[in-house]
Formats: sequence, structure tokens, C-alpha cells
Amino acid sequence: MIPQCLATLTSLLVLDLQMNNLYGSMPRNFSKENQFKTIKLNGNRLEGPLPQSLAHCKNLEVLDLGDNIIEDVFPSWLGILPELQVLSLRSNKLYGTITCSSIRYPFLKLRIFDVSNNNFNGPLPTSCIKNFQGMMNVNDNQLGLQYLDKSSIYNDSVVVIMKGFSMELTRILTTFTTIDLSNNMFEGEIPQVIGDLKFLKGLNLSNNGITGTIPQSLSYLRNLEWLDLSRNQLRGEIPMALTKLNFLSFLNLSQNHLEGMIPKGQQFDTFGNESYEGNTMLCGLPLSKSCKNDEDRPPLSTSEDEEESGFGWKAVAIGYACGAISGLLLGHNVFFFGKPEWLARLVEQMFNLRLKRTNNRAGANRRRMN
Ligand SMILES: *[C@@H]1O[C@H](CO)[C@@H](O)[C@H](O)[C@H]1NC(C)=O
Ligand SMILES: *[C@@H]1O[C@H](CO)[C@@H](O)[C@H](O)[C@H]1NC(C)=O
Ligand SMILES: *[C@@H]1O[C@H](CO)[C@@H](O)[C@H](O)[C@H]1NC(C)=O
Ligand SMILES: *[C@@H]1O[C@H](CO)[C@@H](O)[C@H](O)[C@H]1NC(C)=O
Ligand SMILES: *[C@@H]1O[C@H](CO)[C@@H](O)[C@H](O)[C@H]1NC(C)=O
Repeated sequence: MIPQCLATLTSLLVLDLQMNNLYGSMPRNFSKENQFKTIKLNGNRLEGPLPQSLAHCKNLEVLDLGDNIIEDVFPSWLGILPELQVLSLRSNKLYGTITCSSIRYPFLKLRIFDVSNNNFNGPLPTSCIKNFQGMMNVNDNQLGLQYLDKSSIYNDSVVVIMKGFSMELTRILTTFTTIDLSNNMFEGEIPQVIGDLKFLKGLNLSNNGITGTIPQSLSYLRNLEWLDLSRNQLRGEIPMALTKLNFLSFLNLSQNHLEGMIPKGQQFDTFGNESYEGNTMLCGLPLSKSCKNDEDRPPLSTSEDEEESGFGWKAVAIGYACGAISGLLLGHNVFFFGKPEWLARLVEQMFNLRLKRTNNRAGANRRRMN
């Protein structure tokens, strides 16, 4: 068992007893004057409940209690710790709903939030997520890469599951931000506000009971490198806007009820069909099931629609005529003046306009088919 007195030492900075066979309860009497920056008791056989005196650890930056058998509700009271950046409670027997509404500005500096593999239920913890300032603003002004621990006396490390692999980050970069809520019993919809976490690198909501559609706002997470929404009850289409996630290298949407065409382009051209397994209503590459595509179909549009979209045969004919004239003019100008930028721009604008109209029309057809 861990000697209770360890928690009362007032000048200890690091309590690292990870990966042992310690059992019983964790120290209960953290003194008010303690200096702990790091407490790592993960990988033992510690039981709950969590000692409320942990809230005395005003300097705490890293708290890793993962891989124990702690049985308790979510310690939202840890939200008052102003320096807490890493909170891992993964693989315990924690239960109940997660809410932070009892605390004014909870978890303001948190950057790694891992409560995976527990028995949490209820809605996703929106009241916490909307306060994760540490995932919304990362100080870009810091030149070069910064690690959480500034001294080399002790290097903070943490185990995270990223892109499907368990990795030990032997030093934690201050730009590393992840949320892992996987393997619980969360229900309800993914909150829009998750799109505010602009610096999030990894989001794992796998294996819960999450319903509703994938929010458009996920496309604001421009730093996202992995997204795992597999094994939930998500329905609707995959938002096209997700193709804006330029750093996404791992996507798993399998075992949901998603439908419609898989977005094309950018990173989406790199994902294989294993990203979409078990969604019988999805179609298009990389799945072998093709969509009943509007390109293979004769246009369904009536003449009324054609007038509306400005794409009737008259419009096409006029387009051709204009094109021919611009072409001639362009040739003329290039030949005589050699500086046709203004005209090129004009032609480009006309061309974009036509393209936009064509797209609108394709969209209209798709809507009609649905
Ligand atoms: C906890 O520590 C304080 C002093 O830091 C002491 O007065 C108190 O008796 C301790 N309580 C327990 C339960 O050990
Ligand atoms: C911490 O990491 C740095 C750089 O990787 C290394 O130089 C240093 O020796 C490490 N410190 C400890 C205590 O392992
Ligand atoms: C998400 O979490 C599940 C369960 O904890 C894990 O199996 C999976 O590999 C994780 N996904 C990613 C992308 O890390
Ligand atoms: C995606 O998730 C499913 C269900 O959780 C899992 O079986 C599959 O291995 C995952 N795919 C990848 C590539 O990790
Ligand atoms: C997924 O791709 C593999 C090889 O690329 C193929 O053998 C398999 O049939 C595909 N599965 C589906 C469901 O399209």
C-alpha cells in the first residue's frame, strides 16, 4: 500500500509510482501547502474513492490515475486546479454523468483529457468541453517546440491511444491536445461547441451510444490528426466540409448508420474502406457500392428549372458565343500587346460563374433525387 504520509510532504514536486502492484486506496491527506506538479499512480491496483484533498494541489499539471480499479463519480472538483494540463483517468470503474456546471471556469488549461474505458453515461460533457481554453488557444508565439516540464530534472510522460496505437509520450509537447471519451456509455448528440477546440489533434468518441448527425462544426478543427467516431448510432451524411481537415491522417466512422456519398478530395482520397465498414447506406469510393450518381443519369430537370438556373440551351449557346469572342479577343491582345491579365481575369470570372451554375444544378438534382 502507498504510505499515507507521502501526501503530506510539502516540498515534493513529483510523486511517480506508476506501473507497480500497489493496492488499496491512494493517499488521502494531501496537505494544503503541497507543491506537487506531477502525480502518476497509473498502472496499479488502486481502489476508490478519489481523495477530495487532491483539490489542494494548486500547482498540479499532470494527474495520471489510469489503469487502476478506482470506483467513483467524475471528480469535477479537480476543475478548480488552475495549472492542470493532463488528466488521465482511463481504464477505471468510474461511473455516472460528467458535468462541470458546478464550477465557474473548469479545467481552463487542460490539453489532454482521457476518461476512456470507464462506465460513464449520460450526455457528452458539453459543460466541460466549452471551457477547455487550453485546446482553443495555444500560444503560437513560443518559438520552437516547448515541453510541459521546463527543467530536465524529471520528464513528464503519459500514455495515449493515438491513431489506433498505444503510445507513451516520453515528453509532453505543450501543443499536444487530445480528448478520449471512448468505451463508455455516453448518449445524445455531439455538441457543436466541440468545433471551438481549434488546436485539438485527436478526438476519440468510439464505442458509445452517440446519436444524431456528425456536426459541420467538426470541420473547424483544422489541426485534427485523428478522428474516431466508430461504434455509435450516428446517422445522416458525412459533412463535405470535413474535407477541409488537412492534417487528418486517421478516420474511423465504421459501425454507425451513416448514409449517402462519401466526400471526395483532399485527405478523404487517402482513407481506405475500413474507415466506413458497417454503414450499409454509405456509397461511393472507396466502397465498392457506387452511388446512383447524377452524372450517369439523363438530366431530370424540367424546362422551368432550366430557366431558373440560367442553364437552358439558350444560355449554353450564348456561353459558347461569348467564349468564342473572348478567345478571339484574347488571341488578338496577346499578339498585339502581350499583357492580357485583365482579360484573362475577366474570362476566368466568366468561367467560374458558369462552373458555379453547373454545380448548383448538380446539387439541385441531388436534392430532388433524395
Ligand atoms: C491530515 O494532515 C493534517 C496535517 O497536515 C493532520 O492534522 C490530520 O490529522 C491528517 N488527517 C488524517 C486523517 O491523517
Ligand atoms: C529529459 O529529456 C531530455 C531530452 O530528451 C534529456 O536530455 C534528459 O536527460 C531527460 N531527463 C531525465 C531525468 O530523464
Ligand atoms: C479509440 O479508442 C478505442 C478504444 O479505446 C481504440 O481501440 C481505438 O484505437 C482508438 N482510436 C484511435 C484513432 O486512436
Ligand atoms: C474502426 O473501428 C472499428 C470498430 O471500433 C474497428 O473494428 C476497426 O478495427 C477500426 N479500424 C481501424 C482501421 O482502426
Ligand atoms: C475493401 O477493400 C478491399 C481491398 O481493397 C476489398 O477486398 C473489399 O471487398 C472492400 N470491402 C468493401 C466492403 O468494399
